[in-house]
Amino acid sequence: MCGIVGYVGDRQALDVVVEGLRRLEYRGYDSAGVATVTAGVLHTRKRAGKLGNLEKMLAESPLPASTVGMGHTRWATHGAPTDRNAHPHLDDDGRVAVIHNGIIENFATLRHELEQRGHDLRSDTDTEVVAHLLSEEFEPAGRDLAEALRRVCRRLEGAFTLVAVHAEVPDVVVGARRNSPLVVGVGAGENFLGSDVAAFIAHTREAIELGQDQVVELRRDGVTVTTFDGEPAEVRPYHVDWDASAAEKGGYDHFMLKEIAEQPRAVADTLRGRIGPDGRLHLDEMRLSDDELREIDKIVIVACGTAYHAGLLAKYAIEHWTRIPCEVETASEFRYRDPILTRSTLVVAISQSGETMDTLMALRHAKEQRSRVLAICNVNGSTIPRESDAVVYTHAGPEVAVASTKAFLTQVVAVQLVALYLAQVRGTKWGDEIAAHVRELATMPEKVDQVLDTVEPVRALARTLVDARTVLFLGRHVGYPVALEGALKLKELAYMHAEGFPAGELKHGPIALIEDGLPVVVIVPSPAARSVLHDKIVSNIQEVRARGARTIVIAEEGDAAVEPYADHLVRIPRVPVLLQPLLATVPLQVLACEMATAKGYDVDQPRNLAKSVTVE
Ligand code: G6P
Repeated sequence: MCGIVGYVGDRQALDVVVEGLRRLEYRGYDSAGVATVTAGVLHTRKRAGKLGNLEKMLAESPLPASTVGMGHTRWATHGAPTDRNAHPHLDDDGRVAVIHNGIIENFATLRHELEQRGHDLRSDTDTEVVAHLLSEEFEPAGRDLAEALRRVCRRLEGAFTLVAVHAEVPDVVVGARRNSPLVVGVGAGENFLGSDVAAFIAHTREAIELGQDQVVELRRDGVTVTTFDGEPAEVRPYHVDWDASAAEKGGYDHFMLKEIAEQPRAVADTLRGRIGPDGRLHLDEMRLSDDELREIDKIVIVACGTAYHAGLLAKYAIEHWTRIPCEVETASEFRYRDPILTRSTLVVAISQSGETMDTLMALRHAKEQRSRVLAICNVNGSTIPRESDAVVYTHAGPEVAVASTKAFLTQVVAVQLVALYLAQVRGTKWGDEIAAHVRELATMPEKVDQVLDTVEPVRALARTLVDARTVLFLGRHVGYPVALEGALKLKELAYMHAEGFPAGELKHGPIALIEDGLPVVVIVPSPAARSVLHDKIVSNIQEVRARGARTIVIAEEGDAAVEPYADHLVRIPRVPVLLQPLLATVPLQVLACEMATAKGYDVDQPRNLAKSVTVE
C-alpha cells in the first residue's frame, strides 16, 4: 500500500524524504509526490509513475532548501494513477498539504458538503477532502495544526494514515492513524514519520508505534501524541534491531510470510465500505446497471493460476446465491474452443495483477462477442479493469511474493460479494438470508487471525515432510479448489510433486498412488452443514490411512469424528460452508512456505516463475 515519510530536523528534508520513499518502494506504488515548507510557503511536486519521474521533475524544477517535509508513494484506490491524483493534495489556497494511506469511506458525503460550501476539489481521490477540511478547521483550532487534524479525524470513517504540513506552521509535521500503520522515528534534534520503519532506518532505530486513533505532532525537538479527543496518549517506544532489508519485510524473513500475516487486514480492507448498516451490499465500481445485471443468464469465469482457484470457488457461491449457471475456465483455454457467449453472458475476469495476458485475451474475446465483462482485480487502473465494463477491486495491497496468498483470500471475498450482490439485485434470496451471510463474512478477518495464531505446529509438521516425493490434497465441494490451491503452492514453492483431487474421485484412480508414509492432506467440510459430505470424506480419510498414508487433516473445531484417523490435526474455526476456504487455505500457505524454507529455496521468487505473466 501507499508509502509515507515525514521529516523535521536540520537536514535537507527533501533528501531524507526521497531516500525514505526509495526504501518504501517495495510496498508497490504507481505515483509519487513530496511537499516541503520554506519561509511560510508550501511547495509540492508530484508525478505519476516511478520515483525516477518525480526525481527528474525535481531536477528540472528544484524546490528551495527546507528542513520540514513529507513524501508519498501512492497505490491507487480511488481514482486512476495520474499526476492529478498523486499525493500530496492541497486546499484551495495551497496552504495545507495532505498525504494519506487507506480508504476514507464517507468521502463522497464530505466532498459533496465541501463543494456546497464553495470548495473546488480537483482530484478523484478520497484524500483531497482532508486538505479542505483541515483548511476549514485551522483557524477555529487556534492555528494549531494537530488540533485541526484531530477535529477532522473525528469526522472521518474508514481506515487512514494521514500526514500534513501547513505553510503557516513551518516547523511542524502532523500525523494521524486509524487502522492503517504509522510509525514515529525518534532522532536527536530530528524526528521522522513512516508507514513502516524502513522509511527512516538509515537515520534512527528508536521508534514509537502509534496506536489506533492517535494524532502525533512532530517538531525538531519533540514528539507529542494524543488521542483523537486531545487526551495524552500512551505510546510504545521500541528499538528496531532489523537491518534495512529486514525492515522492508516488517521483520519477517520473506515477503510471503509478511503477506500471509497481512491477510486479516487485506480481507477487512476488501470488505470495508461495502456493507451497509442494514447488511445490504454496495459495490461502487459495479458500473453495470441493475437492469443489466437482471438480464444475465450465464456467468463464465476466466482466470489463471491461483486466481483460477478463486474462480472455481466463485461457481459455488454464484450458483448457490443467484441460481445463474456458472462455468469456470482456465483463461488460456477459453478463446480457443469457440465458447458460447451472448450479450446476456457475464464474463468475470479474476486477476491480481490485472495484466495477465491469457486473462486479458479471454476478456477481449468475450467483448468481441458483445458479452459484458466484470473484472475482479487488485491493481487499480491496470489493463484488465480498464478494458472491463465493471470492476470490483480487492484491496489486498501490493503483493510482492510471486506465490499469491493475500490476493487469493481477497479474491474469494470479492466473489462472495459479487454473488451476494447479484442475489440482492435479482431477488433470488431473501434479504435477511443475505444479510446473515454478510454478517458472517464481516467476521472473517478475526477468524483468519485466529487461524494464524495457531499455525506454529504446521511449521513443525512441514519440516518433517521435506523428504516426501509427493503430497496429495483431497477436498470435496468448496474444499476441492482449496486442495488444488494447496497443491499449487507446494509445486510453486517447494518444487514438489503435489496433486489436488476431489476426494470422491479417489477410488477412480488416485488411490493407486497411496503407499506407506505418503502425506495426504484432507480438507474436511463442516460436519454441521453437509453431514453426508462430511461423513463421506471421513471414510476417505480411513481409506487412505488403511493403505499407509500419513494423514494431515484440516477440520473445524468440534469435529470429533476425524480425530481417530488424523495423524496431524489442524483446527480451524467453524464458519458457513461457503466461507471455509478463507480459513482452510491459510495453513496450506504456511505449509508450503515452511517446506520451501526448510529446503533452502527462494520463497519470494521461486525458480522459473513470474509474478505477472504478460505473454501468452
Ligand atoms: C502467475 C503467478 C501466479 C498467479 C497467476 C495469475 O502464474 O505466478 O501466482 O496466480 O500468474 O496472476 P494474476 O495476476 O492474473 O492473478
